[in-house]
Amino acid sequence: MSEQLCITNIGHLWGTYDISPINALRGRDLGKLPSISNAFLISRDGKIASFGQMEDLHPDHHMPVIDARGGHVFPAWCDSHTHLVHATSREKEFEMRLHGSTYEEIAAAGGGILNSANVLRNMDESELYDVSYQRFQQVQKMGTGAIEIKSGYGLDFDSEVKMLHVIRRLKELDEIPVKATFLGAHAFPAEYRNDHEGYIDLIINQMLPYIAGEGLAEYVDAFCDKGFFTPEQTARVMEAGARYGLKPKIHANELAVSGGVQVGVAHHAISVDHLEEMDEASISVLANSETIGTMLPGCAFFLGIPFPQARNMINANAKLALASDFNPGTAPSGNMNMVVSLACIKMKMTPEEAINAATINGAAAMELTSEVGSITPGKLANLIITEPMPSLAYFPYAYGHPPISKVILKGKVV
Ligand code: NIG
Ligand code: FE
Repeated sequence: MSEQLCITNIGHLWGTYDISPINALRGRDLGKLPSISNAFLISRDGKIASFGQMEDLHPDHHMPVIDARGGHVFPAWCDSHTHLVHATSREKEFEMRLHGSTYEEIAAAGGGILNSANVLRNMDESELYDVSYQRFQQVQKMGTGAIEIKSGYGLDFDSEVKMLHVIRRLKELDEIPVKATFLGAHAFPAEYRNDHEGYIDLIINQMLPYIAGEGLAEYVDAFCDKGFFTPEQTARVMEAGARYGLKPKIHANELAVSGGVQVGVAHHAISVDHLEEMDEASISVLANSETIGTMLPGCAFFLGIPFPQARNMINANAKLALASDFNPGTAPSGNMNMVVSLACIKMKMTPEEAINAATINGAAAMELTSEVGSITPGKLANLIITEPMPSLAYFPYAYGHPPISKVILKGKVV
């Protein structure tokens, strides 16, 4: 018997496409979120089987029913940039920043990413898995239905591989689609402080061949920013990744106009992420490319740095996604509902733009548009059912207490 579920009395079913977009939406299209009002949706064996208007629903008394009572339904969030696998929190550094230190000062003094690496190196894989598994369940309950997770807190061969093993185990749970990114080039570890070439050599000649050979990552990332990796170093890591079939998704322009967008676009990155510090040249290079710009408003909010100029980038016709950046240093939350609210409140994105950026465009930033990101027959039945609410705008408006009634993943309530 196939497992079925029927959701009835959906006030508005958002993100409906009979045939899904394959590529990320850009420009004016980002603001178009197709919908059906007074709708139903049927899932079968974890996938969307059909949807339509209530008047066209033929009653089948054997099928379990969830009555949405006029609530809205969206595709579950596609969080395309996270560091969900990490050892512990870093609230001491948060307090240091409250007392006036900056993120860069803390990092330069051996805190930040290196602090996380010290703890993670000393944590065994099973404990790292357990703490990561907890976070993985939490974000699903908050509506995340597909996720990308990075390494980058190991910074030595064994510890990077340990992180990627944990990501692989989360993927093998088969709860939601998971994509793995190798971020060995996250920071120069203390033992290579005076030998940056030596660390890049380790990444290129030892880590990458092993990780690619074992199929432990789909993407390669580098933190291309002031005080971290230069565009030239980033380019070498991307070129080496490409030799092993790993596509780039890179950290660019968080702390400075770093040249990260240019190097990402030149290497056909799937996405360039952060973009808090953009000049006109970076915006125009991004807008004239197929690379997705992934904005992480939780990071700007938490660090008190400028938010990405979403409106300028939308007007320039760039492809844009939204993601959480869930990590202990700059965005200690994987709550995509808050990300969508911040995008509207602080970046003046419309609710439709924010939801598209966090669903179909997030899916595109993980090359998952055939599986998730829209309400399309054959895609996973990964859905958010809201409480009854007066309009779409109510969802981002109600920041901090998202009006979610149920999260459905693969046709089942989580
Ligand atoms: O995306 N910017 C670089 N990496 C992470 C932060 C890492 C950390 O501070 O632990 C980010 O913000
Ligand atoms: Fe990040």
